[in-house]
Amino acid sequence: MAIVNIPDEQRRIEDAAAISGFLAQHGIDYERWTSGIDVASGASADAILAAYGDKIDELKARGGYVTADVIDVKPDTPGLDGMLARFNSEHWHDEDEVRFIVEGRGLFHIHPAQGPVFAIEVEAGDLNRVPRGTHHWFDLCADRRIRAIRLFQDPSGWTPHYTRSGVDRGFQPLCFGPAYIPH
Ligand SMILES: [Fe+2]
Repeated sequence: MAIVNIPDEQRRIEDAAAISGFLAQHGIDYERWTSGIDVASGASADAILAAYGDKIDELKARGGYVTADVIDVKPDTPGLDGMLARFNSEHWHDEDEVRFIVEGRGLFHIHPAQGPVFAIEVEAGDLNRVPRGTHHWFDLCADRRIRAIRLFQDPSGWTPHYTRSGVDRGFQPLCFGPAYIPH
C-alpha cells in the first residue's frame, strides 16, 4: 500500500482510506488493484496487460485512455540515469499520468496549487492518476526497481513541461517502505 508523506507538516498517512481521501482533495485518484490471475515476477508485458485487462478496459472507458503499455525499470536498465533525469525535476503534462505498479516502488512528489508539497510512495498493487497540469516529479527508491502499467490518452501529450522552479531541490527522494535499503 502507498504511503503519503507531507514533510512540511511532519505528517505521514499510511491508511488506505485516509490516503484516498487526502489525494482526492488534490484531484488525484488512488486505488488498490488486485488481479484474479497470478502474475509471476518476470512475466511478459503481454501477460501483465492480459492479467489486468478488465481493469485497464474499465479505466480506458472512464478516462478516455486509448493505449496501455508496461514500463520495466531495473538497476541495470541501459540509460537509466538519463531516463530518471527527465522526470526527477518539477514538471507537468498535457495529459493525466496514470500508473499501476506491478513490481517495485517509486516516489511521486506533488506540488499542489494549494497546500504543501507531499510525496506518494507507491508499491505493487497501487494505481494512481495524477491529473493533467499537476506539478510533480518522480524518483525511484534505493532499489531502483519499478514495473508499471501506463495508460495514455495520447502518448504525445506525455512530454514533460519543466517548471524550473527549483522546488524539487528542497525535498529528499526518501522512501520509507520495506524495499528501502539505506546506503
Ligand atoms: Fe510526470
